[in-house]
Amino acid sequence: MSGHLLLLSPSANRVYAGAADALVAAELRILLGAEDPGLVQPVEVAGVDYLAVALDDLDERTSDVLGRLSAAFAVYRREGELLRPVPLVRPDRFDDDLVTIPKYPGKTNEQFTRLLTNVTLASVVRPADGVRAVLDPMCGRGTTLSTALILGHDAAGVESDLKAVEAYTAFLKTYLRRKRLKHTIDMTPVRREGKSLGRRLDLAVTPDAGGRTQNLSVFSGDTRQSAALYGKRRFDAVVTDAPYGIVHGSQPLSGKRDRSAAALLGEALGVWAGQLKVGGALGLSWNTYGLTRERLSALATEAGLRPLESGPYLEFGHRVDASIHRDVFVAVKDA
Ligand SMILES: C[S@@+](CC[C@H](N)C(=O)[O-])C[C@H]1O[C@@H](n2cnc3c(N)ncnc32)[C@H](O)[C@@H]1O
Repeated sequence: MSGHLLLLSPSANRVYAGAADALVAAELRILLGAEDPGLVQPVEVAGVDYLAVALDDLDERTSDVLGRLSAAFAVYRREGELLRPVPLVRPDRFDDDLVTIPKYPGKTNEQFTRLLTNVTLASVVRPADGVRAVLDPMCGRGTTLSTALILGHDAAGVESDLKAVEAYTAFLKTYLRRKRLKHTIDMTPVRREGKSLGRRLDLAVTPDAGGRTQNLSVFSGDTRQSAALYGKRRFDAVVTDAPYGIVHGSQPLSGKRDRSAAALLGEALGVWAGQLKVGGALGLSWNTYGLTRERLSALATEAGLRPLESGPYLEFGHRVDASIHRDVFVAVKDA
């Protein structure tokens, strides 16, 4: 026996209702740029589930990918019948409690958020000119934004619920002070032509002494105004978990509301596409009960994006609960 075995975080299957192996395998294939589905396969060894990675040597890039994955727990090299532990080096610039401490209805699971962010960033085709800028145009209380910071990127958001932006700001203030991380944070009113447009959050944080300062900003406001709010600024990636057409903590709403989630995406996709740099990628998760992949793909194409719909990109569908079947859609902005 040769190759490597990847043990997934025990919580992963709770997030994905038993589908974690398949989802993380698809994530890993996209991050490695591997066409061959045989490269990553679920296996069971002595009653424990692993992902078998058919690579005998882990070069620097592959090790970096394994450390970045959304649900990697441990890696072993297979030596005959024995498993030798291999250090898993995470690129994380902040502790994971930056995303695990906040708990609220409607929060996107943090492992899934990391998967969505990883898959989208791996689909960006422009050369890396240093750090990536990630926009979540429906950012809630910031799970994607904090994930982008953890992965070493800059983050920007828009959220229509002012209370969510205020709650995220309050959390960051307490968290960064408690962790004694060097930072400046401000929340200020936004006014244009004498009219109040809401508020904006600005954060500059330096997680390691002497390291790079990372920036985060969030506007309260409608996502369809995202381009107006951010002006000329362009992003490498747009990553968002779209509204599911349900009210959290309440009964599922009628099909009418589901259709309105689809209508919102129809209006917003063109705005977000305009905010991407050429070669940038959009990745969104959505509830397929309100909108089919075919329709979403047509909307993205109309917005000037090229949907990625081969191999592992079609392997992310999973059940969340009786009213939500979640899937991942990725598209690229070509020249
Ligand atoms: C599925 S939640 C995202 C949650 C977020 N990822 C988190 O973990 O906090 C969708 C978010 O979209 C926001 N939203 C819905 N319609 C919007 C709009 N038109 N403009 C901006 N945000 C909107 C909702 O308020 C909600 O916070």
